[in-house]
Amino acid sequence: MIKDIESILVNEKQIDEITTRIAGQINRDYKDSKQLVLICILKGSLMFTCDLMKKLNLPVEIEFMKVSSYGAGTSSSGMINIHLDLKREDIGDADFIVVEDIIDSGRTLAHLVGYLADRGAKSVKTCTLLDKPSRRVVDFTPDYSGAEIPDKFVVGYGLDYDEKYRNLPYVGVLKPEIYS
Ligand code: IMP
Ligand code: MG
Repeated sequence: MIKDIESILVNEKQIDEITTRIAGQINRDYKDSKQLVLICILKGSLMFTCDLMKKLNLPVEIEFMKVSSYGAGTSSSGMINIHLDLKREDIGDADFIVVEDIIDSGRTLAHLVGYLADRGAKSVKTCTLLDKPSRRVVDFTPDYSGAEIPDKFVVGYGLDYDEKYRNLPYVGVLKPEIYS
């Protein structure tokens, strides 16, 4: 554990158990799907998407989107900014699973589900590694969830503070003195 981390919240073994469990659910739920597409939400869900897709035994495609929320934590606009959009013609043929690192207010995933539905997706489900239900601003429940965590700022396994700590192989609570 590096010095900036107060405690490990989800260790490597637990992450492995989470990806195995969720991949098992997806393998069952999508066995009859004609076209399954995972959308990795950059940059945070990079590691989670990689580990999850290795455990899928179905034909699966991968796409990337990059988004950020406007005034997260304060505004209730529900608007998000799309920096990298999905470029495909065949959206209506595909079953999408949006893969996120963490759900906080719920705005990002709630917006993305609506956006993909508006673009004519055949189906859209959501998958998150972590969920902070106590922080919810909009009513949103993911279809697949790795672990519910308390209202603490966490980093590692893709999640960052100021673009750092994404490389840690575990999810840890960042010492408050780093950001306060
Ligand atoms: P939401 O739209 O409020 O649900 O925001 C989700 C996004 O907030 C995630 O994709 C993360 O980028 C960011 N986020 C929320 N909580 C944390 C955290 O504890 N550590 C790092 N990023 C976080
Ligand atoms: Mg993020």
